[in-house]
Amino acid sequence: MKTFYIETFGCQMNAHDSEKVAGTLLQQGYTQVENPEEAELILYNTCSIRDKAEQKVFSRLQQFKRESGKGKVFGVLGCVAQQEGEKIFERAPHVSLVAGSASYTKLPQLLVQLEAGNRRVTGLSLDTGETFDTPFTRRDNPHRAYITIIEGCDKACAYCVVPMTRGPERSRTSESVLREARSLAELGYSEVQLLGQNVNSYRDPSDTQWDFARLLRAVGEIDGLRRVRFTTSHPRDFVKEMVAAIDQDERLCNHVHLPVQSGSSDVLSRMQRLYSRDQYMRCIEWMKRAKRDIAITTDIIVGFPGETEADFLETVSLIEQIEYDSMFIFKYSKRPNTPALRYDDHIPEEEKTRRFLFLQERQRAIQIRRNSRYVGTTEEVHVEGYNLATHQWIGRTSQNKTLNFIDPDLPEPRGARTLVGQYMDVLVTRAGPNSLAGERATNRPASIS
Ligand code: SAH
Ligand code: SF4
Ligand code: F3S
Repeated sequence: MKTFYIETFGCQMNAHDSEKVAGTLLQQGYTQVENPEEAELILYNTCSIRDKAEQKVFSRLQQFKRESGKGKVFGVLGCVAQQEGEKIFERAPHVSLVAGSASYTKLPQLLVQLEAGNRRVTGLSLDTGETFDTPFTRRDNPHRAYITIIEGCDKACAYCVVPMTRGPERSRTSESVLREARSLAELGYSEVQLLGQNVNSYRDPSDTQWDFARLLRAVGEIDGLRRVRFTTSHPRDFVKEMVAAIDQDERLCNHVHLPVQSGSSDVLSRMQRLYSRDQYMRCIEWMKRAKRDIAITTDIIVGFPGETEADFLETVSLIEQIEYDSMFIFKYSKRPNTPALRYDDHIPEEEKTRRFLFLQERQRAIQIRRNSRYVGTTEEVHVEGYNLATHQWIGRTSQNKTLNFIDPDLPEPRGARTLVGQYMDVLVTRAGPNSLAGERATNRPASIS
């Protein structure tokens, strides 16, 4: 019996790639195990977006170095694999497989080489028009499923490794995306999330040439699907039609993640983001004027080379103006082979930390303010789990907010009785910066604490 273990780092694209890799391995006769000790083949699906992420895989490999003599085979997949290539064999000689995401369609052949005892197997070509479409996907969640619609990235943001680690953009045909979405609905999935580094540049390679808004509308119409999410949107390619689509179909979740990176047009230009602050604000205006209450979230990089205090204060004013529902803040991290490496005005680490903490504090106050608007309202949640420590069910709203709640009729899971996977209305009674809390809405008069 051949066994494998896979650990995943990084973004949702990586999480979903791992599901497809696991499915491919199961198809090849492998069995998945839950810890590396039991596995013959140990795979790390890696992320290289920031230096810290990259270091994680090398510390994992170090941890298990001694095990390599005991018949274990190690493989490095994903963005660090693509970026470092054969250098990984030098740094970690017990690794036998190095493959980037553009080579996963060749996994069955790579496995054959590994099984034949080859100790330097690589899949590193980026020269592919293919996407990794496979019917063999071992999904982690029985209710919510990822669907890749576009791979790679054709932008060239000055700080970012992704165009080098994932290669050029390749869109799947709308027919193949819709076929997958329909079969997921038939299997009982009620929520799907369409994935791409830049979903807005989706372009159907078949004759119909659908753009992303058209594809999104078509997925929303599939019987059995109740929620459709998508990520990530790039402001340069975001169009007003997206807002119209969300307004017209409640099944399309009213949440848009629109990474801004900086509030300063100067910094945006040096980042090669291809939009100014004003152009970004136009996208925000479309959403603020929508009929539905669209939650807007973002990513911000502080301490990009040359970011002055005035630039930083423009980011602060932007977040105060927009009032995001949530955001990821990152300290700029130098990445190999990126244009920003060559910029000479790098910001000291302590200053990046100061800006990070300042922004985090401001955003926390904004989130408390925004979330408190929901107290007293009733929101529909998709139930995701149960928290044993707090004795609450964990739900998620269409706006992608966590809403923890109690259900007087089922205070905890009992045997086969669970709320996970169901949709229900919850009365919001409390709001914090990162989540809401409430109780299941019933006909009983509810008390607001
Ligand atoms: N394709 C998506 C983002 C992918 S990476 C987009 O363009 O929006 C996710 C986030 O990581 C980015 O939005 C950016 O904020 C952050 N990031 C990327 N490279 C980084 C770097 N070198 N240092 C710090 N943060 C970085
Ligand atoms: Fe990286 Fe920019 Fe592409 Fe996003 S759009 S993946 S930040 S290069
Ligand atoms: Fe990381 Fe690669 Fe995703 S660098 S964020 S795993 S695209």
